[in-house]
Amino acid sequence: MAHVTDYIRTIPDFPHEGILFRDVTTLFADRDGLRLAIEGLVEACEGLQIDTVAGLEARGFILGGALADRLGTGFVPIRKKGKLPGRTIGQSYKLEYGEAEVELHDDALHQGQKVLLVDDLLATGGTAEAGIKLIERLGAEVVACAFIIDLKDLGGRKLLEGLGHRVEALCA
Ligand code: PRP
Ligand code: ADE
Repeated sequence: MAHVTDYIRTIPDFPHEGILFRDVTTLFADRDGLRLAIEGLVEACEGLQIDTVAGLEARGFILGGALADRLGTGFVPIRKKGKLPGRTIGQSYKLEYGEAEVELHDDALHQGQKVLLVDDLLATGGTAEAGIKLIERLGAEVVACAFIIDLKDLGGRKLLEGLGHRVEALCA
């Protein structure tokens, strides 16, 4: 039986020398691959009460939109700095290869709302941690963080679980 890993390719030295970039565009481009990914994530979230899905730019938007539709919720984007048109809150973070800041509209979530945070890949966990901080600053609760890939050696799962969060991933 096919697995999501069959559809993901690794590109060496992108975006910097020494980085093995896990490219999910080939997974998204294939209808069977995309379905495997979405169904795998829906299954991983079974039994959780989720009011809304928040996706991390950029590939978390593709997964998050599809998942929100499948779960019957809305979708909230967490974007790179300077992209959201309304009033925002921001959070900076460190990456495997650099530094960045993400933002969330300050009225995107409300107190007590249960949020599923989605991205394609977990590496150091810096991006997801920044997303969690933004969600929690608005009084909402992260019920789980869901990814296609967990690059285990980079420690993201440990970081997020250490903060008390449930982490779901379809492959390493
Ligand atoms: C990748 C990936 C995650 C992040 C994970 O995105 O899609 O968002 O890195 O890394 P971390 O766990 O170490 O924080 P990237 O920052 O390359 O941005 P992009 O989606 O705009 O390409
Ligand atoms: N984000 C951080 N590290 C990455 C990697 N190795 N491949 C794809 N996205 C990443």
